[in-house]
Amino acid sequence: MRTLSNVLVTGGAGFIGVNFIHTLLNRTPAFTGRIINLDALTYAGNAASLADIEKQFGNSNTTGTARYFFEHGNICDRSFVETLFKKYDIDTVVHFAAESHVDRSILGPEAFIKTNVMGTFTLLDAARAYWQNSNTADKLFHHISTDEVYGSLGETGYFTETTAYDPRSPYSASKASSDHLVMAYHHTYGLPVTLSNCSNNYGPFQFPEKLIPLMILNMLEGKPLPVYGDGKNIRDWVYVEDHNSAVWAVMQKGVTGEKYNIGGENEWENIKLLDTLIGIVSEKARLDPVKVRGAIIYVKDRPGHDRRYAIDCSKIKRELGWQREVSFEAGLEKTVDWYLANTAWIDGIRSGEYQKWVERNYGGRG
Ligand code: NAD
Ligand code: TYD
Repeated sequence: MRTLSNVLVTGGAGFIGVNFIHTLLNRTPAFTGRIINLDALTYAGNAASLADIEKQFGNSNTTGTARYFFEHGNICDRSFVETLFKKYDIDTVVHFAAESHVDRSILGPEAFIKTNVMGTFTLLDAARAYWQNSNTADKLFHHISTDEVYGSLGETGYFTETTAYDPRSPYSASKASSDHLVMAYHHTYGLPVTLSNCSNNYGPFQFPEKLIPLMILNMLEGKPLPVYGDGKNIRDWVYVEDHNSAVWAVMQKGVTGEKYNIGGENEWENIKLLDTLIGIVSEKARLDPVKVRGAIIYVKDRPGHDRRYAIDCSKIKRELGWQREVSFEAGLEKTVDWYLANTAWIDGIRSGEYQKWVERNYGGRG
């Protein structure tokens, strides 16, 4: 087991990062270190999601035992990143920060190249420089990636850790580039890295541009439910806390230089998933399911829309003893409950710059 003391979490104000920080500080007694959250607070980042953590573990807590530090900045800013390595004597990096939405990458790829490629490079190079004369046995750079780097599957087969990369969208191409850089830094410079490729996450704090939260909110607001193409594209869904428990397992026990696939073994056609979600939301929010189903509209397909993703995650189960704990039904229920209970969070994140962007690009349908 690695001792992780000063952990730099990038993108900790985004969906998966927020859940990760909550889990590590509130529900992981084995973790006794500090978290330094470096986030640029783009449209997808929301510092308010960590207000409780700030209060309990931040600098302002009354006991003077701070374990959580928020640093507002950009992962592409080399000198700022270097300052953080020194200031907190960083021994572990968990790199979540990214531009993460495929549709946005189609409309504006440049930000994806900057953050996902150049940002990852900047972090890797800063870690290499800071750790170069020290014992790397107690250092780790864990890179969070996606199954989308593997491309698109036909009706059968699964992505394994040895599947050749075949990214199709600017988003997945930028993530594939970052994965290659991470491995190159290991092979060339001996940087202690691990990498994980996960399937589609869902759960609390997800920005309402991704399928599940977008559909929940549109149902609650009586808006159309836009299904791309024929609705038969398939994704594998994993509850965000199960993803994060896998990340934690890799951080503690993963072999450096290795990559691990993470998935829910839970494939759904989009239209069938939507039907299930309509059932849950209608019941909880007392809506008429027939009327909600009537709001489904088939819209123009996403360009280059990958048909099917499916993950073989037997390696992480076998080698690190990880397993999922949340069934899809239970996870969807928790997620819907969370969005019903957190209207202030939703109002906050949908205001300002994000709303203007949605108006410009989608005519306000977000
Ligand atoms: P997100 O879009 O919700 O959050 C991204 C966070 O990164 C935000 O807080 C944002 O402010 C921050 N950020 C963006 N650019 C930055 C920059 N240049 N400098 C500093 N911070 C910056 O993303 P997410 O869904 O939480 O995804 C996190 C990671 O997990 C990403 O690397 C993504 O590729 C990967 N991933 C996501 C999924 C999924 O289903 N959401 C699945 C597999 C892998
Ligand atoms: P998304 O949540 O954007 O994740 P990803 O594209 O990274 O898998 O989309 C999940 C699936 O849902 C994908 O096949 C595209 C589809 N989709 C729709 O049909 N309608 C929508 O409004 C959105 C956002 C996605």
